Amino acid sequence: MSELRIGVLTCSDSRSAGGAEDTSGRALVELAQARGWLLAAYHVVPDDRETIANTIVEMADIDEVDILLTTGGTGLGPRDVCPEATLSRADREVPGIAEALRAESMRITKRAMLSRGVAAMRGRTLIINFPGSEKAARESFEIVADQLEHAVLMIAGGGHA
Ligand code: MTE
Repeated sequence: MSELRIGVLTCSDSRSAGGAEDTSGRALVELAQARGWLLAAYHVVPDDRETIANTIVEMADIDEVDILLTTGGTGLGPRDVCPEATLSRADREVPGIAEALRAESMRITKRAMLSRGVAAMRGRTLIINFPGSEKAARESFEIVADQLEHAVLMIAGGGHA
C-alpha cells in the first residue's frame, strides 16, 4: 500500500496562542512518522467551531490527507467543539472508531466516557477526534493505528477481499 498522507490538527486556545506547547499534536506527528506515514499537514487552531471546520476542509480538500487526526476539544467544556466542527463538514460517520476509542480507553481511565470525539469521512479523508492530553492522544493513536491502512484501502474502493 502506498504511504498514508496524515494530517494533524490540534484544537486548543492556549496552544494556538503560544501559551502552551503542542505536546499531543507533536506526539501524533512523531507516532505517524514512526510508522512510515507522511505528514502532509499540521495546524494548531483555537477552540472555535468555524475555524476548526474550515481547517478540516482545507486539509481534506486541498492537502488531500488520507487520515486527519484531531486532538483536543472533545470534552464537556463550553469551548469543546471539535466533534461539532467535524460533523458539520463530514459526509458519513464511522461510529465504530469512536466506539472502540471509548471502550478501549475506558480500560485505562473511566474519564474516557467524557470524550465526545467522533470519527467521520469527508470525501476520501477519514477524520478521527482524539482527546487533548498527550497521554490520551498517544493511547488513542495506538488503539486505531493498525486499522488505518485498511480503512484507506476501503475508502478507495478496495479492501474487502
Ligand atoms: N482517553 C484516553 N485514552 N486516555 C485519557 O487519559 N482522558 C479523558 C478522555 N479520554 C483520556 C481519554 C479526559 S480526562 C477527558 S476530559 C476527555 O478525554 C476529553 O478530553 P479533551 O477535552 O482534552 O478532548
